[in-house]
Amino acid sequence: MKFTIITIFFSLFLVDFGFAQQGDLDISRFGGKPNSDISQAFLSAWTQACASTTAVKIVIPAGTYQMGAVDVKGPCKAPIEVQVDGTIQAPTNVVNLKGADQWLKVQHVNSFTLSGKGVFDGQGPTAWKQNDCTTNKNCKMLCMNFGFNFLNNSIVRDLTSKDSKNFHVNVLGCNNMTFDGFKISAPAESPNTDGIHIGRSTDVKVLNTNIATGDDCISLGDGNKNITVQNVNCGPGHGISVGSLGRYDNEEAVEGLLVKNCTLNNTDNGLRIKTWPSTPLTITVTDMHFEDITMENVSNPVIIDQEYCPWNQCSKKNPSKIKISKVSFKNIKGTSGTKEGVIFICSSVAPCEGVEMTDVDLTFNGAATTAKCANVKPVITGKAPTCAA
Ligand SMILES: *[C@@H]1O[C@H](CO)[C@@H](O)[C@H](O)[C@H]1NC(C)=O
Ligand SMILES: *[C@@H]1O[C@H](CO)[C@@H](O)[C@H](O)[C@H]1NC(C)=O
Ligand SMILES: *[C@@H]1O[C@H](CO)[C@@H](O)[C@H](O)[C@H]1NC(C)=O
Ligand SMILES: *[C@@H]1O[C@H](CO)[C@@H](O)[C@H](O)[C@H]1NC(C)=O
Ligand SMILES: *[C@@H]1O[C@H](CO)[C@@H](O)[C@H](O)[C@H]1NC(C)=O
Ligand SMILES: *[C@@H]1O[C@H](CO)[C@@H](O)[C@H](O)[C@H]1NC(C)=O
Repeated sequence: MKFTIITIFFSLFLVDFGFAQQGDLDISRFGGKPNSDISQAFLSAWTQACASTTAVKIVIPAGTYQMGAVDVKGPCKAPIEVQVDGTIQAPTNVVNLKGADQWLKVQHVNSFTLSGKGVFDGQGPTAWKQNDCTTNKNCKMLCMNFGFNFLNNSIVRDLTSKDSKNFHVNVLGCNNMTFDGFKISAPAESPNTDGIHIGRSTDVKVLNTNIATGDDCISLGDGNKNITVQNVNCGPGHGISVGSLGRYDNEEAVEGLLVKNCTLNNTDNGLRIKTWPSTPLTITVTDMHFEDITMENVSNPVIIDQEYCPWNQCSKKNPSKIKISKVSFKNIKGTSGTKEGVIFICSSVAPCEGVEMTDVDLTFNGAATTAKCANVKPVITGKAPTCAA
């Protein structure tokens, strides 16, 4: 009895404090020592884990490590968890990433978990300066911190992604993928450091996540279904964005987004849906729901923009053919950085349908904000600005 109690207590202790347990693959077993490059050790640990017929955990304990670009693939035989409690640093010099588009790329795995209290530090500042596309015409697509491609039933928990050279996270072709308690941090002025970009994925959840960065906090590309963003704080950054869509002609519909209980603080945009004009694409964007959102000093808090055309890269002559429908904004409160709290610029050939505003209460300099609308007849309940052309 006593022995059992002690055993249980001890097991709980191990779990609670995240210590490596017997059977875990500590990176040191593969030659991965602090203050050294663990790329090879990581690959060796992955090869062993992926061949295991029982669930296995790779552990990278506290300490500072360096790592080059690592690309690991499944399918694997059993669930794999990678627990990172240390800080892993990317090469400062992009040359040492050998042209990789993503620093840690994980592909074609079922039941993958990335956890721990560690930090993936993309060491972006030098690259941001050398590669600023506003001043350098030969700027290149830089390496993202993470690429999660074609993962099923997977989780990213607790970790921090810091100072990525480009987007922090790209999610592509995943099913049932959850980010929980994740943290993203980069300075407001860092270029293209989007937080999480999701494309062609189903059932992705971003929960309890703080995102401070220089570009979109969360952006949804084409082909996404049933995405949930909940209890997320965003700022600084460019807000939560669907799109831009319509730039390429092979894009797929976006259906099912719930953004709930989120805060946007000092962001350039709040909740945004954007499509390019003058493209032949006729996809639909439907079932987009935003509720219980607090804004603080957000420049364009609520915006649907079907004339999205940054740096005049396109012509606004022909309207977007993308059809946007069933979009609701409910209980949206706080302060706007501009007088127009709501902008709905929909397409003249595919007007927005089923747009609803319920209690959209935003102020600018203490006064209620206005709404500017085209090709949409929003249904208003409770307090919300009425449309002007
Ligand atoms: C993920 O799920 C898809 C769709 O069910 C399936 O085709 C694919 O093989 C799965 N991938 C893995 C790595 O299990
Ligand atoms: C989604 O993935 C999680 C984590 O692997 C798993 O616990 C859950 O059962 C999955 N949900 C479905 C509907 O498959
Ligand atoms: C969307 O995801 C939720 C869980 O987040 C799940 O309960 C629901 O069945 C999914 N809906 C569709 C249409 O896939
Ligand atoms: C809303 O999100 C915050 C975290 O940003 C969390 O602390 C709070 O519990 C959430 N509220 C609800 C009702 O889920
Ligand atoms: C917004 O950000 C500012 C500056 O970082 C901070 O002082 C303030 O408390 C934040 N507001 C909210 C509501 O989180
Ligand atoms: C509000 O946002 C603007 C730019 O988006 C910024 O210049 C200003 O400092 C912010 N105000 C506060 C009080 O944070």
